[in-house]
Amino acid sequence: MENLSRRSLLTLGAALGLVAVADTPKAWAWSSSGSIAGTDTVTDPWDVWDDDTDPLVASLLDAGQIPAVNTAFASWIRNGDALPAGLPPALSTYLRRVNTLPSWADQAKLDRAAQFNKRMSMYLFLLYGLGSGIMSTVIPREARNVYWSEGGADMKSRAAKTFTYGYDLSAPDAFKATGSFVVTSHKTRLTHAAVRHLLPQSAPWRGVTDHPIPISNGDILITFHSLGTYVHRKLLDWRRWGLRMSAAEEEAYLHMWQVALHLLGVRDEFIPNSWAAAEEQSRYALTPLLAPTPEGIDLADVLLNLTSSVDLGVTRGFQREFARYVLTDRIGDWLRLPRDYISRGVIEAGWPTYVMFREGLSPLVPETFGLFDRFIRGLAMLFLNNGSSATHTPITIPVMNRPG
Ligand code: HEM
Repeated sequence: MENLSRRSLLTLGAALGLVAVADTPKAWAWSSSGSIAGTDTVTDPWDVWDDDTDPLVASLLDAGQIPAVNTAFASWIRNGDALPAGLPPALSTYLRRVNTLPSWADQAKLDRAAQFNKRMSMYLFLLYGLGSGIMSTVIPREARNVYWSEGGADMKSRAAKTFTYGYDLSAPDAFKATGSFVVTSHKTRLTHAAVRHLLPQSAPWRGVTDHPIPISNGDILITFHSLGTYVHRKLLDWRRWGLRMSAAEEEAYLHMWQVALHLLGVRDEFIPNSWAAAEEQSRYALTPLLAPTPEGIDLADVLLNLTSSVDLGVTRGFQREFARYVLTDRIGDWLRLPRDYISRGVIEAGWPTYVMFREGLSPLVPETFGLFDRFIRGLAMLFLNNGSSATHTPITIPVMNRPG
């Protein structure tokens, strides 16, 4: 009944042009022939969770063992570190089994991706931070899950943990023994498994969800498209202003995300094997589902305020307009981002010339170079400082939902 009345309200709102209503996920029709597995099958990833991990984490939560696991995990940082002592035996057995890269991982491509990340770092900070980060708030399921989980009540800490993931993924040795990304991925996968057990126990979450268990393989793919696929598409577009990206770099950047998805527990049969297949999946699974929710509007405001709490050398209006610029005004309107038409004019004229100058296509220093440079460097510092003074905020497995 609660859902029904919510649906009627949404329909009325949409009819009045007040809200946008996302399509409910259609039956899955993306063939796995375009996946790493290459099997020509159609399995619905919205009904696939993580059979390997979920029952284990649920039993650890029920037995009250997660706080001790989090304590033990504090010293488990590098991929080459031995597993920490004192973990529950079932968790150690599980970690020994999954603590390896997939057989199809290609270190040469991962190395190339690391070089690419380094060369593109300034654009990546901007696109992940203002683009993907804010786009996640118009993915209804993700916005509601994040809002109603424990971390939703403390977005500063949550953002810092998410930065840890991005930071570890972009490090030159991300997948090597000295890097940390594989460990960070395991912690994230366990966190998602905990959320799958905890959120269904939250009455407010149950009141707004359209699916009984959160964070399916399909949901993770959608988030990947808001990250990797979106960023790749933007970088392709910015080639018209001189940005260089070779076919081998594009392939390497995709490969990095493929391995990342595998480490998060996504089945090979769903992981796209080319950018064309990824774009097809994104058009099908991400684009029609984007929509505002009260939770997402609130989260976007909190996230943008977090970013503007450090001095980026620009006004809040400029920062909100930049988010609109990289995401579209449709999304900006959904999130009720205030307009600042003067800043918009500066961005539309100045950003292309900034990129052209940085990429050596224009010998003239644009008048607005300093403005954009301070902004981009400020975002980079925010990211590199992990949103606070700590450089590495460890990811911890939640034991409760958002209070209240
Ligand atoms: C937690 C990354 C997909 C919901 C986390 C964390 C990371 C992360 C790094 C740990 C930091 C933290 O606790 O906040 C990712 C990546 C994804 C992905 C890289 C896909 C490529 C999703 C999806 C959903 C989701 C699809 C929901 C539909 C959550 C929630 C938490 C979480 C609710 C826990 C927040 C808490 O501590 O309460 N994720 N995630 N994630 N993620 Fe994801």
